[in-house]
Order: sequence, then C-alpha cells, then structure tokens
Amino acid sequence: MTYANRTNHLKAEGAYAVLAKAQALEADGREIIHFEIGQPDFDTFPNIGLAGIQAISNGKTRYTPPAGTPAFRRAIAMDASKRRGIEISPEQVVVGPGGKPHIFFPTLALVNPGDEVIYPNPGFPTYEAMIGVAGGKPVPVPLVEENNFSFDLDIFDKLINEKTKLIIINSPSNPTGGIIPKVDLEHIAAAAKKYDYWVLSDEIYARIVYDGIGDAPSIYALPGMAERTIIMDGFSKTYAMTGWRLGYGIMPKELARRVGLLLTHSVGSTAEFTQDAGIEALTGDQAQITSVIAEYEKRRNIIVDGLNSLPGITCQKPQGAFYVFPNIRGLGKSSDKVANWILEEAGIALLPGTSFGEYGEGYLRLSYANSIENIERAIEKMSKILK
Ligand SMILES: Cc1ncc(COP(=O)(O)O)c(C=O)c1O
Repeated sequence: MTYANRTNHLKAEGAYAVLAKAQALEADGREIIHFEIGQPDFDTFPNIGLAGIQAISNGKTRYTPPAGTPAFRRAIAMDASKRRGIEISPEQVVVGPGGKPHIFFPTLALVNPGDEVIYPNPGFPTYEAMIGVAGGKPVPVPLVEENNFSFDLDIFDKLINEKTKLIIINSPSNPTGGIIPKVDLEHIAAAAKKYDYWVLSDEIYARIVYDGIGDAPSIYALPGMAERTIIMDGFSKTYAMTGWRLGYGIMPKELARRVGLLLTHSVGSTAEFTQDAGIEALTGDQAQITSVIAEYEKRRNIIVDGLNSLPGITCQKPQGAFYVFPNIRGLGKSSDKVANWILEEAGIALLPGTSFGEYGEGYLRLSYANSIENIERAIEKMSKILK
C-alpha cells in the first residue's frame, strides 16, 4: 500500500507521548505529578456550562452555517474589536471546532507548494505540521532567551525573501510564555508590508498575561496590518474549554470566504450549543478570568523561584500563558535525557524543549496549570535527585 506524501512528515505531539509514558508508570503504582499537558486545571466556568446545557435542551443541536451562527460571529467581532482597538466586522470572523482549524485552513488557503513559511522555533508543533501538509517550506526562526524568547530579528531579516508567503507568530508563546514586544511586532509588520506577506498571529493566550500589563499587543492593530493578518484565537485556554472544541479566526473578508468553504467541505459546521456557550463566555461575567489569572500568577512565581533554586537550572519569569521554559544547559545533558531522567527518578512528567523544535535543545517545558501544593512537591522531588 502507498500513501500520499503530505502526511509523511507528521508526528504525534510530544505531550501525548510523555503522558502515555507517565500513565504507564502510574499503572505500575508510581505517583506522577503532571506538568506535560497544556490545559487549564479549572473546570469550565459554570455560567458557560449552563448556557451549553440550556442550548441542548432548546434543541440547538442541528447544523449551523459553516462559518458560525450570525449571533456568535457578531459577539466575537464586538469582543475582538474592543480588545484589539480596531473595527472588526462579523464577516471577517470564521468559527471552527477549536483554535487549530484556524491554523490549518488559512495555511491551506494561502500557501502554495514551494512557498516559504516562517514560524517560531521552539513553537507549537502544529505550525510546522500544517505548513508541510500545504506543501510549503518550513523556515524556523529561533526564539532567543536573551530577548525574552521573542524572535531573533537578525536571523529573521536574513530569512525573509520574495518566496516568503506567510509568517506565523505566537504571543504569549507556547512553549516559552514569552510576549513579543510592540517594537518587534512593528519590525515584523514593516517587513510584511515590504515583502507583501501574510501574518498568522496565534493569540490564544493573549488574555493570560501577568504583572498587570494588560492583553498582549496584537500585530493586527498596527497600521496597514488588518488587510494581511489572520488572528487565531479561541476559548480553550481563557475559558477552560479545551474539550468543547471552540475557536475562531479573524481575517480579511475574501480569505474568510475561502476558509468558510474549506470548513463547509471538511467539518461542515461547529456544534450550535457550543457556539451558544461561547456567546455566554464572551458576554457573561469576566471576573472569573481575573481570579484564574491571579491564581496562575501565584503559581508562576512559585515555580520560577523553585526552579531557580535548583542546581544547573535557571528560569526566566515569563509574562504570559501558563508555561515556564527553564534552561537546563548547566546539567550537561540533552533535554530529552533530562526529561526522561526526571520522569523516571522523580516521578515528574514534563517535556523536553525539543518537543517544540530543534532550538528548544537545552530547555524543558513545564505547564503550571497544576496546584501550588503539587508545584511545591515537584520542586522538592527534583531537588532531591539534582543535589
Ligand atoms: C499556541 C497554541 N495555539 C493553538 C492551540 C490550539 O488550541 P485548541 O485546543 O483550541 O485547538 C494551542 C493548544 O495547546 C496552543 O498552545
């Protein structure tokens, strides 16, 4: 049997492989503390869950227009306009099952075989996977610790050329938690206009930001960028809705039409009761988000201090998302070896930085969507094996 080449490069996400290994150890009776999976440990807020249940009771269980219900697209446009400080119309909004479709479908709609696509490395693995499916050439740009894990702009400048079709950015970032500062966004935007390329801005963590700095800045709001930018956003992280599968893209109308057609012929539509829950998420009480972020911030401070107290490890204090990306070069072993060793010896599941690309070598990623008690126990266990 033979298969189409376009799936040859696909790999499982590293987090699932580590989770499977950790679960095998748990099945043998070992206690494992989990820092590998990037999802909130909070339940979906009750008002949102209730809105979904009510929608099912009211028979909202049928197909909807592929790009989303008019009411939901309107609610997203209003919320996004307010947050990004720029007018966004409902026709620019495309709804889908999760944030991931808004990486996949715009990439398919924009990238021709051979086109170059610049993306962050270490970065969310779906970017490279989807560039490959579209037949594009993946061009990684290193994120550098010295620059708070923003792009290395010198390398970026050398990689852009006439063949560049799309650049993917993610701020705050998975896996580093870093935020791309406005000056760097301005640099990327200036190059986008000069070389006439598109920007896909993954803003799924835009509201999970600490130290009172407000939402992370969006490249979409910079002059001349709305016509060439796709915002990818969703409900999984901010509203603890990973399993609901609800996300959206914001893009110029013609691209929205094309992405809508890709949705028509692939997923068909997103569940209507899920979309109704999304309306409640956007228009209901937002105070719950503030308290969840305050809790993440406490955990971030504890995990960063704890990691910095360990020999051979240094850890920056990221200002967004719920990840830390400690530097483990001082241990003198590869990320993969260190991650395995910590799992086997200390019973702590975390990811090697290389799960996010080759420039993640020398780092680990921990998701601190876990209790303070577990974070403190994990640091204690790690300090025992590291001393
Ligand atoms: C950076 C980034 N983008 C997109 C997604 C996908 O989100 P969703 O679960 O809504 O598809 C994730 C989820 O881990 C992520 O970390």
